[in-house]
Amino acid sequence: MKILPHLFENNHQWSSRMTREDPTFFQKLTRQQTPEYLWIGCTDSRVPANEIVGLLPGEIFVHRNVANLVVHSDMNCLSVIQYAVEVLKTKHIIVCGHYGCGGVKAAMDNRAHGLIDNWLGHIRDIYRKRREELAAVTDEDERMDRLCELNVAEQVVNVGNTTPVQEAWKRGQPLILHGWIYSIANGLLKDLGFSVSSQQELKQLEAD
Ligand code: CO
Repeated sequence: MKILPHLFENNHQWSSRMTREDPTFFQKLTRQQTPEYLWIGCTDSRVPANEIVGLLPGEIFVHRNVANLVVHSDMNCLSVIQYAVEVLKTKHIIVCGHYGCGGVKAAMDNRAHGLIDNWLGHIRDIYRKRREELAAVTDEDERMDRLCELNVAEQVVNVGNTTPVQEAWKRGQPLILHGWIYSIANGLLKDLGFSVSSQQELKQLEAD
């Protein structure tokens, strides 16, 4: 007896459909993956990377965690970045946040949430750094949305400061970092407009 049979049924149908559309699809994938993009996004089930940007398996390398954080000492995320940059030679790293992020929301309230508060402390650090700017936003939802955007900017800076990215730029490997935000309410992505492709541009974003 299969457990969760509907998921296996879905999988079977999906595999058949993909094979019908391209009989060599899975065969080609077994030989290699050459994704041009690394996506660092939130685990939120409403923000599925491949679907949002209309990419097939093999076309985007994905890392997701609560509130799309790039923590300086997170070996999981750092290993993903290293593999993407040094082995897959991805040309773009996209940090994608989303409005209404539960992680950002939890970081802003004054309740205790147990273990995850240690993770969310990284967002509280951003709130403290940007306290003045955020205090000027009187509407609470708007303030949360702004913190979601500031979080993306901060994580792009963190990606830029990782050793694999620093070393890639030093050896002249083309690599562009992007900060995007997704709206669950309408399914649309927005480029936050601070792409970074060099150490110089990174320093500029850090100074903003
Ligand atoms: Co989220």
